[in-house]
Amino acid sequence: MPKILAIDTSCDDSSAAVVEGSVVFSNIVASQNQIHKQYGGVFPTVAKQEHQKNLDPAINLAMKQAQVDWSEIDAIAVTVGPGLAPALEVGINKAKELAQKYNKKIIAVNHIEAHALSALAINNGQKNDLSSPKLPSLAVVISGGHSEFILVDAIGHYQKIGQTIDDAAGECLDKVGRLLNLGYPAGSLLEKFAKKGRPDKFIFPKAMTSQANFDLSFSGLKTAARNLIANLEKQDKLNKQTIYDLALAMQTAVFEQIAYKLERILLSPNLEQGLYPNRDFMKHLKKGQAIPTKINEIWLGGGVAANISLRQVIRKTLNKYKNLSGKKIALKVPYSKKLCGDNAAMIGLVANFKYSRGESTEIDSLDRKPNFAIGE
Ligand code: KG4
Ligand code: ZN
Repeated sequence: MPKILAIDTSCDDSSAAVVEGSVVFSNIVASQNQIHKQYGGVFPTVAKQEHQKNLDPAINLAMKQAQVDWSEIDAIAVTVGPGLAPALEVGINKAKELAQKYNKKIIAVNHIEAHALSALAINNGQKNDLSSPKLPSLAVVISGGHSEFILVDAIGHYQKIGQTIDDAAGECLDKVGRLLNLGYPAGSLLEKFAKKGRPDKFIFPKAMTSQANFDLSFSGLKTAARNLIANLEKQDKLNKQTIYDLALAMQTAVFEQIAYKLERILLSPNLEQGLYPNRDFMKHLKKGQAIPTKINEIWLGGGVAANISLRQVIRKTLNKYKNLSGKKIALKVPYSKKLCGDNAAMIGLVANFKYSRGESTEIDSLDRKPNFAIGE
């Protein structure tokens, strides 16, 4: 299997990795969180400057940790989109420079495809096998920029069947975190706070339940949280405990919405056409009655996939579905937290699949695709 050096500079992390097949040899992530924290979000020009500083050391460290030299590298993989154009440019230029210098092929990778497949990556020491996935599967990508349900019929063959119509789930958590002055990004801190929250203290309504599709929406939730925070402030009730309660209520609302749509996907008689089980159907659905879905596995990816409560909510949904249909669906999650957030190992994994299909990109046609959709 080929050894691939992979680069990701799509947003605010400068990352480099060495991957062979599905085995991750190294995965270096130089985070810019401390820098962007003061702004409460990512500034593209600042991100670009930081990538220019951090990318070379990240690549050198990735090569060193993997104990490889350039003669052993078969190809260079790089994220071409989606992402911030100035940030993507740094990784792409570096990939071109290295490919010319060491005479290597370049493989262009879609960042969302990489999150979608990230649960398939394995640790060094495990059996290296690119043929393992039980297809079709459903990739659930929940990050700071995206929230998508992607049907995977074959690796490289994707159909997006649902997505957020406004904010991404992580973005919603980050925005509420900013209102509470928790710094950026706020997802993991909210997870910690939610553990101390009292259930049912605040309840946000579940969005998108009357829309008969697989789409999600989080901007209404953000507005509801903003109003609640303003009210609590006015009444001088915004204290540690109410912030914990709010964190729990937010997380619950975001994750329950994802689980609700996931359940509808699994119970749908025709996924491609988005044929949707209606309320009546759901009300009368009895144990063991549901038509088994063709989906065999759920692959969870993206920064928010690191959240243990999200994984629990999804597992609960899969158990409920098993009761209704008799079919057991496995949940695969990335083997480390680093593989959930932005990282280059997932880029290297996708590139390995592409390499095995003989796909590469000419240097002259390699360019940024800030709005690159999966399956395009
Ligand atoms: O995948 P990612 O690193 O970047 C994008 O491609 O967007 O995702 C970052 C997002 C942020 O919104 C961050 O708050 C969220 O992932 N996140 C979490 C957790 N860790 C990171 N959200 C909830 N719980 C976590 N433990
Ligand atoms: Zn990402």
